[in-house]
Amino acid sequence: MSGKPLLVTCGLPYTNGPCHIGHLRTYVPADFYVRYMRRSGEEVVFVCGSDNHGTPIVISAEQEGSTPRALSERYHQHFYDTFRRMEVIFDRFGMTDDPMNHETTRSIVQRLIENGYVYAKTVSQSYCPKCKRFLPDRYVEGTCPHCGAVARGDECDQGCGQHLEPGEIKDAVCKICGTKAEYREQEHYFFRLSAFRDFLLDYLPNLRGTATARNYALGWVKELLHDWCITRTLDWGVKFPGRDDLVVYVWVDAPIGYISFTKEWAETAGADWKNYWCGDDTRVTHFIGGDIIYHHCIFWPALLKGAGYGLPYAVVASGMVTIEGKKFSKSRGNVVWANDDYLDRGLPADYLRYYLLSYTSHTKELDFSWKVYAERVNSEIVGTLGNFIYRTMYFAGKEFSGVPDLAPRPVVIDEIARSLSVVDALMQDYDFKNAVDAMMALASFGNSYIQSNAPWKLIKEDRGAAEQAIADCLQIVKALILIFQPLMPDAMQRAWTMLGYDDDVADHPIAEATEPMKAHTLPEPAPLFAKIDEAQVRDFETVLAARVERAKENSEKKSPVVSIEEFENLDIRVAKVVSAEPIKGSKKLYKLIVDLGGEKRQVVSGIAGFYAPDELVGKDVALIANLAPAKIFGVESRGMILAAGDEASLLVPLRPVRPGTKVR
Ligand code: 2FM
Ligand code: ZN
Repeated sequence: MSGKPLLVTCGLPYTNGPCHIGHLRTYVPADFYVRYMRRSGEEVVFVCGSDNHGTPIVISAEQEGSTPRALSERYHQHFYDTFRRMEVIFDRFGMTDDPMNHETTRSIVQRLIENGYVYAKTVSQSYCPKCKRFLPDRYVEGTCPHCGAVARGDECDQGCGQHLEPGEIKDAVCKICGTKAEYREQEHYFFRLSAFRDFLLDYLPNLRGTATARNYALGWVKELLHDWCITRTLDWGVKFPGRDDLVVYVWVDAPIGYISFTKEWAETAGADWKNYWCGDDTRVTHFIGGDIIYHHCIFWPALLKGAGYGLPYAVVASGMVTIEGKKFSKSRGNVVWANDDYLDRGLPADYLRYYLLSYTSHTKELDFSWKVYAERVNSEIVGTLGNFIYRTMYFAGKEFSGVPDLAPRPVVIDEIARSLSVVDALMQDYDFKNAVDAMMALASFGNSYIQSNAPWKLIKEDRGAAEQAIADCLQIVKALILIFQPLMPDAMQRAWTMLGYDDDVADHPIAEATEPMKAHTLPEPAPLFAKIDEAQVRDFETVLAARVERAKENSEKKSPVVSIEEFENLDIRVAKVVSAEPIKGSKKLYKLIVDLGGEKRQVVSGIAGFYAPDELVGKDVALIANLAPAKIFGVESRGMILAAGDEASLLVPLRPVRPGTKVR
């Protein structure tokens, strides 16, 4: 351990959608780790923030008719609030669009330019001839040149996961209008990532964190390392120094956010941010999702090295999440939203924290299933941990009115000490699942201990022995509260109060777990946890299944993209209504005769519920003139009148046009 304080960060959430369980799988373990390290005596600063730039946010803002800044502020607040509800508490939660990050990014890019790591090059970029604009990153979709999967402009997100450079994607199509993209020349700036190969080959084997991050990154470095285009033709973002028409690529200013947020924190805390980011012995630990290893283990260390900063000490990458055994998918509705599906139902943050950390190893795929969730909560949290704490406190209060004036037996202290050291070794190794299992094993030890000593029987024969057994169990309770606090802060604070203390358990080092307690009375205990019942599980499963079903129906209904040529196949014309009369037996239909300029047509239209015949006669409407003829209610119809919405509002020309004029 070096003398430098620890700085822990979490991958920054994009501000274009709400928090879901996939996010939480990274943030909750990071928070657990930070709390644990603090309680083990480490000085830790924990920073994060929202990722506001990049095309996903511009596209979402465009779609909702808002601005990227307004959208970002809304989701920024949403993430801040949701994290707090999940007991994920950062020292600073900043925004990448705030002035500090613009400033820090520009100064780092400037430094990279001065150090010779940035060069200009003319490249051919995807361009949409219809939208008349360049198509950076997610404005374009196509085929991955490496594996052939459907890919976004900047990454093969559904296939091999590789980062894609502008212009690399094949069969590019504009995401906005579906037009086949062209390629046009434009000058951009590149970061000389290829110059960092030897540095990375040397640096990566010593990078701490999860082996997945290290090995995956080493694999990439050994195979290929091409320079990165670090500018984009967009208005939204951090301006590239000296070029008002270009912003830096979001993956430049996003990780620099980690530095900016540390600076923002340091300003208010009166600390020196350089302590965390400069020098050879910095201890920056990044918690990230497994899909952004390349950015954090290759691009980011090279950027830091090139600009003369300290390097990440550890990268901890979490595995993916599946829902009820199926692929996690927001668009398919197979998702668990942090608020709507969990917190707003009154479910405790502590339970989900436990599930996320204990389900499987941090780097493996985690499946979220409501059934398994309920089983784990009921048997482990309620049945093992809660039960032991409650029965011990209940018996101690009832028979001895509190904590007895007796030192716990050495065998108990030894078992606690052993557990603490097992947990500590695992935590230092980022092996959270096994650490949590070792914590729960101490609760199981407590249960076996109370069961085999059976103080409720013993008290009848030997009150002293029963009192000793309870003193031992209370010591285990104290240890459990201290060790479980980083994982379940809310419940453990309640347990601490029940153990007769009125201060904050987070102010006590975990090492106090082996210190005997002074005799004191105990307040009335209450169960710490409640079971999840089967009916709740069924409800949650039903809501999820219904959402998946709805999404499926909606996606089936989604209109396919049509080309201009296909659109031009439709012959839409202005038609003047000559007459309108009801069709016998139908309340909805009218038989209309329309004038197409030189031709009279009969069409059947379902607008009878909305207009009287004389409201229609003389009106100019839009008609699809080349629709295949059909018989409706036995009446021939040769065309379709266009109307919008539930009230069948007719589309009429704003300025007079001759009947028969083509609509384009
Ligand atoms: O992949 C993402 O969701 C990005 N917003 C993560 C950014 S992490 C960082 F480097 F800033
Ligand atoms: Zn387009």
